[in-house]
Amino acid sequence: MGKSFDIGLERLTGIGVPGIGETQEGGVKPPLQDTSADLKIGHYVDASATKGGQAGMVVPQESTFYLETFGCQMNDHDSEKVAGVLLARGYRQVDGPEAAKVILYNTCSIREKAAQKVFSRLGELRPADDQEGKSFNTEDTEKEHRVHRDGRVLEKNHPSLRKIVNAGGGKIIGVLGCVAQQEGEEIFERAPWVSLVCGSASYRKLPQLIAELEAGNRRVTGLDTDTDETFETEITRRDNPWRAYLTIIEGCDKACSYCVVPFTRGPERSRGSASILEEVRRLAEAGYSEVQLLGQTVNSYADPSARKMRFSELLAAVAEVRGIRRVRFTTSHPRDFGEDIVEAIEAHPTICDHVHLPVQSGSTAVLRAMARTYSREEYLEKIALMKAARRPISITTDMIVGFPGETEKDFEETLTLLDEVQYDSVFAFKYSPRPNTPSLKMPDAIPEEEKGRRLGILMDRQREIQRVRNEKLVGETFEVLVDGKSRRENQWSGHTSSNRVMNFASPERELLGDYVQVKVVSAMPNSLVGEMVGRM
Ligand code: 5AD
Ligand code: SF4
Repeated sequence: MGKSFDIGLERLTGIGVPGIGETQEGGVKPPLQDTSADLKIGHYVDASATKGGQAGMVVPQESTFYLETFGCQMNDHDSEKVAGVLLARGYRQVDGPEAAKVILYNTCSIREKAAQKVFSRLGELRPADDQEGKSFNTEDTEKEHRVHRDGRVLEKNHPSLRKIVNAGGGKIIGVLGCVAQQEGEEIFERAPWVSLVCGSASYRKLPQLIAELEAGNRRVTGLDTDTDETFETEITRRDNPWRAYLTIIEGCDKACSYCVVPFTRGPERSRGSASILEEVRRLAEAGYSEVQLLGQTVNSYADPSARKMRFSELLAAVAEVRGIRRVRFTTSHPRDFGEDIVEAIEAHPTICDHVHLPVQSGSTAVLRAMARTYSREEYLEKIALMKAARRPISITTDMIVGFPGETEKDFEETLTLLDEVQYDSVFAFKYSPRPNTPSLKMPDAIPEEEKGRRLGILMDRQREIQRVRNEKLVGETFEVLVDGKSRRENQWSGHTSSNRVMNFASPERELLGDYVQVKVVSAMPNSLVGEMVGRM
């Protein structure tokens, strides 16, 4: 084949890639995110959205919105729903804040640097004549520290917005998501030019909040978390023409000692199985062949309806929907991961052979301090279930280094876990103290420099594991869903069922959205390089 290219590496250095933010347990974007380097994908809007927009709503021409999303796949998908709601009200989505009447940021607060990003953006939007706003830390330098096969995407270039607000005037600026929930009305104090603050647990109120803004209200909030409802809407604007995301459980009840999610996303609420299956059928009819079930702890799904479907039964039922060729799910919590899920994967080839099972640490002492509810040994028992499966299952994970009190020996146990499990991808993070979390007050904080040293060691070790593992795949043939086209001629990219990135050569004119057979000819730590050998 011709000169090989490695989108994985391009992505790692951020070349030609759309922006990306954080991951979050339950919304792990990196291994599952569509980051097609060169591909411009269209927007699919549910027919009902357009109808809703036409039905009786008089929206002035200038009703445009710009929506920027930070964070995990749950946030991405929430943004799809928010966009759907706005489109249904007759708004038009624009690519940049310049042309927008409404500017919305859907935010992430999983780590401190992620939360800072929104204040950095808001600082740029500060009107020149504003005297009230408190000072901002506009540091916007969060580094992505991940060893994974999808490569990594760095910061999107962002225009200076201050000019935009001053020039345009009269813009509505809103903060959505986890930072909104966490900071609440304090955001109005820090940035008086913001008029909407709404956490994800209150999104079902969004249409009403938007109507209040349209009616002239200056400030509106949605900050309840004591809801037992999920944000279901008929009018989701989907960004990817082949893969549809579907939230089946929102919130989290697990209370890991380092994590803000239970505070920002509220308690666990599951969606009824009948409504999930109905949506999957509709998606299949609309041409989606891949669905990804989402939840912070997706496998803690508890069907609220009389059917009381277990998560593994739901997986199987989704896999049987006619037209669906791939079912993914993320993120699983080890406590609720059982043999039944492995059996469902074995029994249904349409359920992808990939499980993201965050471990966080290889040391039982640290796991206990993190309140993860399992020991190293118990976690390894779950891994053993997958390794014993009749079909090989690709396993990926999240890890935190430098948790308070993590000794050199604890860290060493994390490293030996890498060797033992042989992950195909690891998302590793330096521990970041977060407001309200129990670990904030734990003694024996690890200095930043030491956290950085441990992270570097972990990444090097894992990169080598991935290199060796991927090299063993040379000569094998995989089914690939083609979701990217390179600027270089005859070069395409896609994902295998195990979610490996495959870059491959083919002289075909059009392959996007097709399932093809690709033989691996060489391997890198983050991606495979292959040649197309047939169609499915
Ligand atoms: N500091 C560092 N990493 C964190 N994560 C969650 N909270 C924190 C924190 N306070 C990581 C976990 C989780 C992933 C999405 O983010 O590894 O699985
Ligand atoms: Fe995941 Fe624990 Fe945070 Fe829940 S509390 S989202 S299980 S890390």
